[in-house]
Amino acid sequence: MSVGIEKVGFYTAPYYIDMVDLAKARQQDPNKFLVGIGQKQQSVIPPSQDVVSMAANAATNILSDEDKQLIDMIIFGTETGIDNSKAASMYLQSLLGISDNARAFEIKQACYGATAGLQMAIDYITLHPDRKVIVVGADIARYGLNTSGEVTQGGGAVVMLISNQPKIIQFDGRSTFYSKNVMDFWRPGYTKEAKVDGHYSNDVYIDFFNRTFKQFLQKFDLTINDFSALTFHVPYPKMGIKALRSVAGEDDPSMESIWHEFHESIIYNSRVGNLYTGSLYLSLISLIANSDTLSAGDRIGMFSYGSGAQGEFFAGILQDFDNSKLKHAVDQIINNRNQLTISEYEAMYKQGLIDAANTANDLSGDSSRFVLKGRSDDKLIY
Ligand code: HMG
Repeated sequence: MSVGIEKVGFYTAPYYIDMVDLAKARQQDPNKFLVGIGQKQQSVIPPSQDVVSMAANAATNILSDEDKQLIDMIIFGTETGIDNSKAASMYLQSLLGISDNARAFEIKQACYGATAGLQMAIDYITLHPDRKVIVVGADIARYGLNTSGEVTQGGGAVVMLISNQPKIIQFDGRSTFYSKNVMDFWRPGYTKEAKVDGHYSNDVYIDFFNRTFKQFLQKFDLTINDFSALTFHVPYPKMGIKALRSVAGEDDPSMESIWHEFHESIIYNSRVGNLYTGSLYLSLISLIANSDTLSAGDRIGMFSYGSGAQGEFFAGILQDFDNSKLKHAVDQIINNRNQLTISEYEAMYKQGLIDAANTANDLSGDSSRFVLKGRSDDKLIY
């Protein structure tokens, strides 16, 4: 019985800022952002995009009419919920025209939500091999203007179609996980901006990675050499570097290829920023789209982390997958964004914080297939 990722789609909004511009505006040395954090650019999400429209844009080009009839579950991982009651997946179902005979719901556990969804999807397909599930990770990472977290903002969506035809990655159900109630990052219900104990969050992340990775090696009698690549939740690229350094020396010649693949896995994240639930999966996309050294049968390790905190390590086997279409599609989305000045970004950021029962968004710069037009009597209009 095979189960895994049959198709994957990505979307981010059509705007970005350059980290050198941000550093200058915040009186920081640009190398702190470029090297110390590892971030080059950051997507800026306008009010015309939210997690629903971004997920719909990510999914629209990958799902066939047949897929839409076979989908039994729409699992939406997000920590940027658009309603305290109604799940984002209900809107997504109707925007994409997915069969009504489906379960549609949302999962929240910080950046871990999509992984919870993915594991549930794997279990479901194992029991119902003739059906399909879509798993979404979509978020907008906001820390606030002029905060130390600002350089680690971003946003976007990844959508994965899980089935018994794993054309990209096959999973075998093996994973190790660890959770503990800690206050490293959270977002109280009254605000759209995250609260964070930044340096502590880095330490918890490394601790959870080491626990789950070492437990995985022990439980399944493997060594790091059994992996062709390790991918990570990437809140910012340097976080992944720190995690990999904790288990693989950068100067160790036997670790050269794992470091090479790692650098392929952060190409897109270093230009998009943190997309919370989608970050691990954008890193996976970055790896398989950009690496020309991986081949079918290679084992790829994945570390998922959600503050609060939950960690999970699991692995998949790369399939004989032609990555050219995926690379072209993602490159186009990222390369075609429009650069904003820092004052334009600040104005757009502030607009994104506004909530009202009736709003009409400016759609002039956003030609995406799906947009959030605004709100009418507290109802979202796409
Ligand atoms: P900070 O205090 O502004 O930065 O916050 P710093 O002073 O720690 O410097 C950062 C790095 O830049 C350091 O390197 C400096 O040495 C270096 P490190 O010691 O870490 O290797 N540096 C320079 N390098 C070159 N040239 C220079 C220079 N100056 C300094 N001139 C922090 C950084 C990441 C803490 C902050 O941005 C933050 O709080 N971000 C948000 C929290 C976060 O992303 N945490 C990650 C782990 S938690 C997680 O992943 C979950 C999350 O995604 C949420 C969820 O689960 O929902 C966040």
